[in-house]
Amino acid sequence: MRISNGMRPGLILLAGLWSLPDAAAQDVRRIYQEYCASCHGQNLQGGLGGSLVDGSWRHGADDDNVARVIRDGVVENGMPGFGEVLSEAQTRALVVYIREMAAQAAERQTSFNRPTPAAVVRSEVHAYRLEMIAEGLEIPWSLAFLPDGRLLVTERDGRLRVIEQGRLHRVPVAGTPAVWAQGQGGLLAVAPHPDYAKNGWIYLAYSDPGPGGTAMTAIVRGRIRDGRWTEQQDIFRAPPELYRRGGVHFGCRLVFQDGYLFFTIGDRGAQNEAQDLSRPNGKVHRVHDDGRVPADNPFVHTAGALPTIWTYGNRNPQGLALHPATGELWETEHGPRGGDELNLIRPGRNYGWPVITHGMNYNGTPITALTAKEGMEQPVLHWTPSIAVGDMVFYAGEAFPRWKHNLFVTTLAPEELRRLVIEDGRVTHEEAIFKGIGRVRAITEGPDGSLFLGLEGPGRIVRLVPAEP
Ligand code: HEC
Repeated sequence: MRISNGMRPGLILLAGLWSLPDAAAQDVRRIYQEYCASCHGQNLQGGLGGSLVDGSWRHGADDDNVARVIRDGVVENGMPGFGEVLSEAQTRALVVYIREMAAQAAERQTSFNRPTPAAVVRSEVHAYRLEMIAEGLEIPWSLAFLPDGRLLVTERDGRLRVIEQGRLHRVPVAGTPAVWAQGQGGLLAVAPHPDYAKNGWIYLAYSDPGPGGTAMTAIVRGRIRDGRWTEQQDIFRAPPELYRRGGVHFGCRLVFQDGYLFFTIGDRGAQNEAQDLSRPNGKVHRVHDDGRVPADNPFVHTAGALPTIWTYGNRNPQGLALHPATGELWETEHGPRGGDELNLIRPGRNYGWPVITHGMNYNGTPITALTAKEGMEQPVLHWTPSIAVGDMVFYAGEAFPRWKHNLFVTTLAPEELRRLVIEDGRVTHEEAIFKGIGRVRAITEGPDGSLFLGLEGPGRIVRLVPAEP
């Protein structure tokens, strides 16, 4: 939960300090308390030095200027330079921390839409209502419509469910693959083949159990006949020696384009492997829709590289979608603490994780001072602090005409649905459509242009329908 009472942050900070072991001495909160709080206040609200959370900056608002003041100081005005005491990476962590605290302060001043069923909610350019479609699900990780109007839903603990004419089939599809349902792993993405009406193929991406408690993202296709998963074929499966222990960062989303299938695998918590082309994790991949490796993939001729790799240096891609007008492939990537990313995915590129990042470790210790480097891609947008970015969809329907081609991004911890306006490859506006009705895990557009969302805690499927006055 976010801190909502102006008195509480200080108490939480103090409690946190007392319980911190010495080994965590590098935690950014401690650095702040030790070196900065005497002048800028316990909660960054200001004192001898100005407030660091009021949004006004004398020496420049961007990250580079804030870092420069911390490093060099403004000695004549009473701000000492810390370049000799703090490393560049610690300075970077302080910038992330200042952004986090500023976002919390700003959020206390903001009111959000928190829709209740059936009530008309006004957002910036459209009014909508929220309708309940299904309840009693575990974590609905992925949503996909079939051309006949049925909605497929994966539940992360391993069930594939069908919603037909607004009603959830009581019995899950039988015979789907056994999944490694631990941590963040399980049954993840579902997507029908673009020619499903002709060929009946449905694709599943999931955490595949390997030897000795390991797992790795695998992709299969099959058909549903009489409520059963049948005729399964492997589309992607890594060699068993590349499977990994650990329960985090599986990716994984599926996108089809022109006979190709794109899919994502997170770094599996082994961050350096995102830079290692001999490993499948921390990558976006491309195969033919039957699993064959395309001859023109960027690393097919690179010795030791996995030929399915399309891009690398991707931490944990949770969203993947094609822009409806340009056909470009866009991706959302879960960052560490700070540094969630929106990326434009181009073949062969290195997206930098963990060599460059705008975030820091979850415990407040720095990862690196580098946010950019020659030969590594910058995100189109980064969210610092993190919004715990999830799934994404470009809106292409008619029901909400003024949302046309806007990007909708789901978020977990802040429980928000965000709308991003994109012009010429840049994000020009961002809006929180609602907040606070559960972690928003999955999104897809319905055949009638309404937006379907998978919520967790409790697991539900809702949709946004237009409610014009
Ligand atoms: C001895 C008191 C003192 C300490 C300690 C101190 N500051 Fe400052 N800080 C100031 C003062 C005074 C200013 C205003 C300087 C000015 O207006 O030119 C300032 C300005 C700044 C600014 C620029 C704000 C703006 O409006 O552009 C930043 C950023 C900043 N401090 C961060 C920090 C951080 C981070 C630390 C701890 C590592 C820290 N300060 C420690 C006194 C202090």
